[in-house]
Amino acid sequence: MNLDGNIIREGSTQLFVPGIISERGPGKIEGRVFFNRQMAFNRDVSVAMFHSVVRPRKCLDAMAATGARGARICHEAPGNYRFIINDKDSLACEYARKNVELGSLGNAEVSNADLRCLLAEEKFDYIDIDPFGTPIPFVPSALQGMSRKGVLAVTATDTASLSGTHPGKCRRRYMANSQRNPFLHESGLRIMIGTMVRMAAQEDKGVTPLLCYYADHYFRLFLNVKDGAGRADASLEQLGMMSYDKATGERKVGEGKMGPMWLGPLMDHEAISEAAVPNGLECQERARQHFEIWKEELDVPFYYETNELAAMLKLSPPGRDELLEAMGSIGKVSRTNFSPTGFRTDRPLKEVLETFRSIC
Ligand SMILES: C[S@@+](CC[C@H](N)C(=O)[O-])C[C@H]1O[C@@H](n2cnc3c(N)ncnc32)[C@H](O)[C@@H]1O
Repeated sequence: MNLDGNIIREGSTQLFVPGIISERGPGKIEGRVFFNRQMAFNRDVSVAMFHSVVRPRKCLDAMAATGARGARICHEAPGNYRFIINDKDSLACEYARKNVELGSLGNAEVSNADLRCLLAEEKFDYIDIDPFGTPIPFVPSALQGMSRKGVLAVTATDTASLSGTHPGKCRRRYMANSQRNPFLHESGLRIMIGTMVRMAAQEDKGVTPLLCYYADHYFRLFLNVKDGAGRADASLEQLGMMSYDKATGERKVGEGKMGPMWLGPLMDHEAISEAAVPNGLECQERARQHFEIWKEELDVPFYYETNELAAMLKLSPPGRDELLEAMGSIGKVSRTNFSPTGFRTDRPLKEVLETFRSIC
């Protein structure tokens, strides 16, 4: 077939992509076969995870479009695994085949199926779900097709629903209450993980975050999924509610109307501390910085926004280094990947505000 398109380079992989591609936000769809340059960082992180953290044997890129993710992983993080690159659109599969050919990817093969059919018949120990918008309709199939132990990677671009802009949609899709707040991407991500935990528990599977983050208007989750009723119960125990008081800035964890949401760690620190960022990524410096912050980021929910505290106290925000140093003198403090002006601390709000005042 004579396919319309061009060869581009992303990371160190050559990719054949359609002539018309999406150059804007992650949810902007252009052309029949989707490729979005702005998701390069998302694919970079997948490559880095395969390099040193995720070690599967049988992988499925269930919604692959041009197969860019699978092709990049196979080329840039070679290993002893098989990678099935699947899309229900036959034209997308033509691009994916071309990319497998272009990279001479011996361990990759293309499949043209509805993921729900494929996952009803075959099991994988790495499944990637990357839909337009919410992944929820595809999660039951992914859980069904997961081996006894594996990694489920999910991208969700419906961040507005999860982060309080559309609370009704959040209730319907995620069975949880959301509310706008200064740390809305963290609460949105935690609601999303919480829903995954509850869906997996229905099938006696436990879910724990391997690495979950927000970037460029999407949430990305790498979840460890393991069979076992006990594991499902243990995951459910980490769910809870929270509240946020706009007037005082107080966050109460374990009670309130927001949620249910995941209140445990957003990553497996032991695994992420081992992560090595390979060279040759598309957004090399950005990936390096993200992993650096992930490795140091405290597990305390929820982060503070410097601008939020400054506005509450009617003060101008201090410099970041000065702030981190001052907070570090009263307790543990870390940067957060959720916001360049955010920070986490294990100290209560009262102490945070006193320290903040003392340096402004
Ligand atoms: C956002 S795109 C995927 C982008 C791709 N992962 C990348 O990194 O470029 C979503 C893709 O899911 C495919 N899709 C939608 N529903 C599907 C289904 N039920 N089974 C398999 N593929 C599906 C669409 O054809 C589309 O190509």
